[in-house]
Amino acid sequence: MSNGLEDVIAAQTVLSDVDGARGTLIVRGVSLDDLLARRFEDVLELLWEGFLPVENLAASLGAARIRVFEQIRSDPALLELSPTEAMRLMLARLPDGDSAETALALVAGPAVFTPALLRLKAGHQPLAPDAALPHATDILRMCTGKVHSQVQAAALDRYLVTVADHGLNASTFAARVVASTGAGLTSSALAALSALKGPLHGGAPGPVLDMLDAVGTPTNAGVWVEEALARGERLMGFGHRIYRVRDPRADALKGAVRMLGAARAINPVRLAVAEATEAAALEALRRKKPDRPLDTNVEFYTALLLEALGFPRMAFTCVFAMGRMGGWMAHAREQVLTGRLIRPKSVYVGPVPKMVA
Ligand code: COA
Repeated sequence: MSNGLEDVIAAQTVLSDVDGARGTLIVRGVSLDDLLARRFEDVLELLWEGFLPVENLAASLGAARIRVFEQIRSDPALLELSPTEAMRLMLARLPDGDSAETALALVAGPAVFTPALLRLKAGHQPLAPDAALPHATDILRMCTGKVHSQVQAAALDRYLVTVADHGLNASTFAARVVASTGAGLTSSALAALSALKGPLHGGAPGPVLDMLDAVGTPTNAGVWVEEALARGERLMGFGHRIYRVRDPRADALKGAVRMLGAARAINPVRLAVAEATEAAALEALRRKKPDRPLDTNVEFYTALLLEALGFPRMAFTCVFAMGRMGGWMAHAREQVLTGRLIRPKSVYVGPVPKMVA
C-alpha cells in the first residue's frame, strides 16, 4: 500500500513515457526535443492517431473554436468564479460523448473560453475565433484583439506542445478512471480539470509568481529562500514525483523564455529575479535535502512564460488545460479501448463491529 500510489503501474500506454531517472519525455516515440519542432495541432494529431481520427486537424480545430464560441452565454454568476471554476462550468455544458468531434470541442473549449472569460471580467466583449489562424496565434488574438508577434505565438505554441501529455499524472489518471466507467469524454475532461486545479499539480505557476514578487530583487533571493525553507514552506516550481533529475520541460520552456527575452518581450527585472531565485533554491534544496534530488520543474518557467504573454496568474491553470486536454482525450480513449473498469482495493483500518458472544 502506498498513499500516493508511487511505483504502482496502473495503465499501459502508447502515448507518452516519462523517464524520471534520465529526465526524458517521449510522446508517441518522439522525444521532447524533436516535438518542439512541431506545431500544437501536429502534436495533437500524433497523440490522437488510432484513438480519435480527425481529417485535417488544424482546420477541424479552427471550426471547433467557432462552434464552442457560439455556446458562450452572458452569465454574471460565471464572473464571480475563478477562471478555472468558470471554465469548468462552461465545459460542463458541452455534450458528453466519445467522438472526435467531442474531443475537438473540449480542446477548443479552454482556448476559447479562457480569453472570453478574461475579457468579460475586464468589462469587454469576447472576441470571436478566426478559424484560419494557427491555434496558438488565435488564442492570443482572442485575448486582446491585437496581432501578437511571431515570437509570442511561437512561445505559446511551444508551451502547449510541451505540456500536451506527461504519462500518468494526477489529472490524466483522473481522466482515465472516469473514462473506464464509460461516462464520456466531457466527464473525463471535467474530472481531469478538477485534479489539475490543485496547487500540487497544475496550480503551481501562480504561486511561483507570488514567490518572485515576495523575493523582489535578485540580491534578496538567497535570504528569502532560506527563510521560506526555515518556515517549512515548499518552494513552488521545484521538486517532482517522478523526475529525480531536471524536468526536461523546464529547459524547453526556459528556451522559450530566452526567445522572448531576446525579442524584448519579457520584463528583464522579472527574468533576473527568477534566475537568481532558481539558483538560490537549487543550492539550498541540495544542501538541505541531500538525499532527495529536487530540481526545477515545468511550472517555474511556465509562470514566467505565461506572464510575459499577458495571461494573469489566475488564468494559468486554464492555459495549462489548453494543452493538456489533448493528452487527456487520448488517454481517455485509450482507457475505453481496454474495456476494463478501474477499480482498485483499499485496506480497511477502521473499527470493526463488536462480536456478539
Ligand atoms: N520545496 C521544498 N521542499 C520540498 C519541495 C519543494 N518544492 N518538494 C519536495 N520537498 C521536500 C518535502 O518537504 C519532503 O521533505 P521531508 O522528507 O523532509 O518531509 C521531501 O522533499 C520529499 O517530498 P515529497 O512530498 O515526497 O515529494 P513528492 O514527490 O511527493 O512531491 C511535489 C512532489 C511536486 C508535490 C513537491 O515537490 C512539491 O510540493 N513541489 C512544489 C509544488 C510544485 O512545484 N508543483 C508542480 C509540480 S509539476
